[in-house]
Amino acid sequence: MNNFIFQNATKVYFGRGCVKEYLSCLTGPYDTVMLAYGGGSIKKNGIYDEVAGILRNAGKNIVEFSGIMANPTYAKVLEGANLARESKTDMILGIGGGSVMDCCKAISLAARYEGDIWEDFWARPGVIEAEPLPLGVIVTVAGTGSECNGGAVITNEEKKIKTGRDYPKLNPRFALMDPTYTYSVPVKQMVSGGFDILSHIMETYFSEPNEDNVSDDIMEALMKSVIRNLRAAILNPEDYTARSNLMWDSTMAENRIIKMGKKCDFECHNMEHQLGAYTNCNHGCGLAVLHPVYYRHIYKDGLAKFVRFAENVWGIARDGMDEEELALAGINALADFIREIGLPAALKELGTDQAQLKEIANSCGISAGSYKKMTHEEILEIFQECYD
Ligand code: NZQ
Ligand code: ZN
Repeated sequence: MNNFIFQNATKVYFGRGCVKEYLSCLTGPYDTVMLAYGGGSIKKNGIYDEVAGILRNAGKNIVEFSGIMANPTYAKVLEGANLARESKTDMILGIGGGSVMDCCKAISLAARYEGDIWEDFWARPGVIEAEPLPLGVIVTVAGTGSECNGGAVITNEEKKIKTGRDYPKLNPRFALMDPTYTYSVPVKQMVSGGFDILSHIMETYFSEPNEDNVSDDIMEALMKSVIRNLRAAILNPEDYTARSNLMWDSTMAENRIIKMGKKCDFECHNMEHQLGAYTNCNHGCGLAVLHPVYYRHIYKDGLAKFVRFAENVWGIARDGMDEEELALAGINALADFIREIGLPAALKELGTDQAQLKEIANSCGISAGSYKKMTHEEILEIFQECYD
């Protein structure tokens, strides 16, 4: 394994009823709480009433910040940061999925920083001299794992860049995770989030080292869990076992544990983020289109791992196949699963303009951890291959 340091600062409260049981106590030290959420799903499914009731009973001043969109924009971050300053917010409570959680992390930092936060944080690596506002999150959809990491993926619409990095100071102080809160997620969003979980695991699994390491073993178990429980949740959206497994799979994929000792690839994420910056496409859908095609480009450079994937994750028997055939059979099984759960298989379905593909390809970051280092020309080939 490669060397590593591990820490995760988020305290997780998981399970049915956890919000009712712990929220009041967790917000205890703060007077003014910014209640931040998305487009209103929490008003329809009752989560808003439950949370606002608890805060009101605890005597909090509530500052509402709503309308956080999927793929949150930098403009929305600045709006939230201004509100947090003006209202003298003491803590932010984000209720939603990756978009709300990421936007809240970004607001927590931007509200405490005087300079140009885009240039000083998102545009360049390194430490930023700002202590973010305390943040707690209530997760309503499984997918990004944002609740237990420091990633704040933000779209700068002017610059056409969607980016984020895992910055430990942005880990939420606490995450409340009640699997029943995810029952109302529409099937399309549930499978998109489910595929995002699978993608986070694959992007880590398909990278060095290849010798025996505990992270790869954990990831095989996690991938099988995602596949099994996604199928179960499609059949019965109120299957508590399936929803709780998916919720924890999602956290496990992005709480740094499986990344220990691994190089990590995330080239598909680099490509999807730029597609998102140009087209505002759904994150999990974009990843579903890209993965099989990308893997057919790189599998020969990581052959042994792709063979392991076919055998250990998809249970494919060798049956006289050579290594390359077996590796391809695993990638085909992944493509079949994507079709089975109803995710798109072509960029055209995401509203991407073919004429823009070259510009988008040229804007993509190049991962240093992939089995085969991409060039912008090869990224364009991948985009063209999965266009229709
Ligand atoms: O906005 P509302 O009305 O709440 O509706 C949301 C939204 O339309 C809906 N939803 C959420 N919970 C629901 C629900 N609808 C009914 N019932 C519920 N319980 O779901 C829709 C999508 O929500 P969103 O938060 O956008 O989805 P997701 O969790 O997939 O987050 C995507 C964002 O996270 C970023 C993505 O790039 C994208 O911007 N990512 C963040 C990462 C991180 N911080 O670690 C890593 C990921 O790779 C990813 O890049
Ligand atoms: Zn993702």
